[in-house]
Parts: sequence; structure tokens; C-alpha cells
Amino acid sequence: MNQSLGNKKISTAVFISGKGSNLKSLINFSKKKNSPILIDLIISNTKKAKGLKYSNQYKIKKKILNFKNHESAEKKILKILFKKKINFICLAGFMKILSKSFIKKFKGKILNIHPSLLPKYKGLNTHVRVIKNKEKFSGCTVHLVTSTLDSGKIIMQEKVKISAKDSAFSLKKKILKKERKIYPAAIRKILN
Ligand code: GRF
Repeated sequence: MNQSLGNKKISTAVFISGKGSNLKSLINFSKKKNSPILIDLIISNTKKAKGLKYSNQYKIKKKILNFKNHESAEKKILKILFKKKINFICLAGFMKILSKSFIKKFKGKILNIHPSLLPKYKGLNTHVRVIKNKEKFSGCTVHLVTSTLDSGKIIMQEKVKISAKDSAFSLKKKILKKERKIYPAAIRKILN
């Protein structure tokens, strides 16, 4: 999606459900002068998401939506996104699956980060499965979001070596470190 930016940064929303370490790295990235994005909104499906603290810290508007009724939650999100003229979405540990019709409205404009070397280990509990299968390598992938889970075009990947001492927990930490590096790089790649 190469596009000419001029000086204007693309208004972006980050969707989270948890700790928000990727959110934090994206906020720091967006503050750089030459970053193509500006984070204007944080969306969460739960008020328990620890990453929501970055809303206060960095003065970014947040919205928490109850997904018990998925359709109505998405409708509300769309309304907010259009109102705030959000033009790009980064999923960062967002634990809800967006509907086909939602994705269609932001076609080619939603990125996700997944903690495996896709197409291997789609879905949940990647690190546990990777360790159980005694893989030698794992990693993380930034990809475009399509209506098939963890299957959109791969924008960037980074590999990590798994040592004999690694547990699912240590692997998660190792990979998160790489995630925080490749998410901004992938955004630059598709938006610059
Ligand atoms: C990351 O491992 C990401 O790949 C996955 O969920 C985790 C989110 O971590 N989709 P954080 O909330 O950004 O710390």
C-alpha cells in the first residue's frame, strides 16, 4: 500500500487486549518525526487490558468495547473510527477476531503481529506448541489482516533461535523483544 504521505501522518488506532508492550513501542515509534503514523486511538475489548495505562501516560484517547455482542461492538468501533478519521489499524495482542465485513471496510489497512513464523503455528498458545514440538527456531510475523485467521500477506518476519533451556515463557520474552522491533519496521515498509 505505498502511498505518498506529504507531511501528514496517517491517523492510526491500535487494538489491544493485554499488556500492550507492542502498543508502547508503536507509540514511541509514532512520535518520531519521520514516522508515517500517528496513534490517535486505543481500542480494547476489556478494561482489564494493562496496556490501557498508556492512554493516560501518552494522552491518547481510549475506548473499551464489550464484545458480548460482537456485531454491535464492531458497529460502535466503526463509528468511532470514521468519526476520528482513522485510516490505519494495528492489532497488537487483540484477542477478538474481526468480522469479514469489518475487515473489508479497512481492506489492506489492518496489520497484525503474531508470535510465530507464519504460516507455522497460527492461532493461540504458539510458544507452548513450539516448545512441545522441539522446534529449533521460532519468531514473529507482521502480516496484513484478512478474513482468514493469521493468513494475510506477510510483511515482515524475524527469526529467533530456541535454546535447550528455553521454556514457553522465556521464548515469549525473547520473541516479544523482536516484535517490538519489527512492528514499526513493517509499518515503515508498507506505508513509506
Ligand atoms: C504478542 O506476543 C503478539 O504477538 C500477540 O499477542 C502478544 C501481545 O503482547 N498477538 P503485548 O500486549 O503487546 O505485550
